[in-house]
Amino acid sequence: MEKTAAFLKEAGTYYLATTDGDQPRVRPFGTVNIFDGKLYIQTGKSKDVSKQLHANPKAEICAFKDGSWLRIACELIEDDRREARESMLNAYPQLRAMYSEDDGNTEVFYIKNATATFSSFTAAPEVETF
Ligand SMILES: Cc1cc2nc3c(=O)[nH]c(=O)nc-3n(C[C@H](O)[C@H](O)[C@H](O)COP(=O)(O)O)c2cc1C
Repeated sequence: MEKTAAFLKEAGTYYLATTDGDQPRVRPFGTVNIFDGKLYIQTGKSKDVSKQLHANPKAEICAFKDGSWLRIACELIEDDRREARESMLNAYPQLRAMYSEDDGNTEVFYIKNATATFSSFTAAPEVETF
């Protein structure tokens, strides 16, 4: 998990794919936070991405950095604990301009059943599962 978290943070932006019925949906994301031994992302309940994850938690994440790319096949599961939201907002204080722990919108999801594959054109793929 640590290698995956470091790659996502260093990449800065990653792309999160969800399913919307039979239609794939993908968008840029940036939040990454380790809390209570799990890797979390943040979004808002008002967003379509949130609704899609609640309907179907299967997701893929893709990021690219320095000639290498990472693909994470996973499930994203909401953690409704206030302290999980607080940890995320403390890691990204700039988000507090739009979000707060108790606004009824902010939510965090942790990555479950992850297969994270690190690839490049010059080396064999490496896999991290968590
Ligand atoms: C670089 C970048 C990083 C972003 N990071 C996040 C994020 O971590 N969480 C989030 O909810 N939205 C983030 N956004 C905004 C989402 O991409 C945007 O709200 C998107 O429309 C959400 O997907 P949806 O329209 O399918 O709900 C980011 C946007 C950019 C450009």
